[in-house]
Amino acid sequence: MNSRAPLAPDTLAALARQAPLELEIETDDQGVAIRLPGAPLSFYHSFTSGALARRARQPKQALLRACNNKARSILKVLDLTAGWGADSLTLACHGQRVTLLEQNRLICAILDYSLQCLAREPTSSEVAGRMRLEQAEAGAYLRQLADDRAFDCIYLDPMFPNHKSSAKPAKEMQILQALTANLDIASGFELALQKARKRVVVKRPAKAPALTAVQPDIVYREKTIRFDVYLTG
Ligand SMILES: C[S@@+](CC[C@H](N)C(=O)[O-])C[C@H]1O[C@@H](n2cnc3c(N)ncnc32)[C@H](O)[C@@H]1O
Repeated sequence: MNSRAPLAPDTLAALARQAPLELEIETDDQGVAIRLPGAPLSFYHSFTSGALARRARQPKQALLRACNNKARSILKVLDLTAGWGADSLTLACHGQRVTLLEQNRLICAILDYSLQCLAREPTSSEVAGRMRLEQAEAGAYLRQLADDRAFDCIYLDPMFPNHKSSAKPAKEMQILQALTANLDIASGFELALQKARKRVVVKRPAKAPALTAVQPDIVYREKTIRFDVYLTG
């Protein structure tokens, strides 16, 4: 986990009060309850219990195949768009070291709190030890990264555009969409192609075009999403 000083719950509450919309936040020893009373929408963010933690431990996910290779030599992953950290947690649960980048201060603070809860659990402190959190914008972070290609894989999961025809996203994604936005993803992707040692992986809606004109080398599909893999070395 990151080595910053632990985040106090009242710091989190103060950040929530600065959010651009009405938001209620409550913490306990497992995670953070988030409520948008106007919407109304609620979601409990926890890396130790609930759906997110259960999903992360499932084997045979397309995400795991996309972010590793047969030799299992992809050890270090940079998640450029951490969001609620579900994908990062999945990779860390399956043995990869993950750096989570999130540009939004409040979301980053929620991740930080839930990571501290995970680190305190004796059975999952090892997983937490494989996760490092940074509040940063993807392009700015990649530009200052040394050219030694420190990350084997760079992963991007930009927010999907809303389509009238598609079903509503899960409530945790609706809350994320209400709180934040994509920032200059295309340039983050271009830089990722230069900086990843082995591959760049992009999560896309199943039927959406590739993120840019560059076409993927491998595609892993699930029912509603797919992972486009760009080999870089
Ligand atoms: C769809 S969410 C990612 C969900 C995530 N994969 C998960 O498992 O929860 C996209 C996230 O990327 C963040 N984001 C968008 N543009 C960014 C950028 N340029 N740099 C860093 N984070 C960014 C948004 O704030 C949002 O939290």
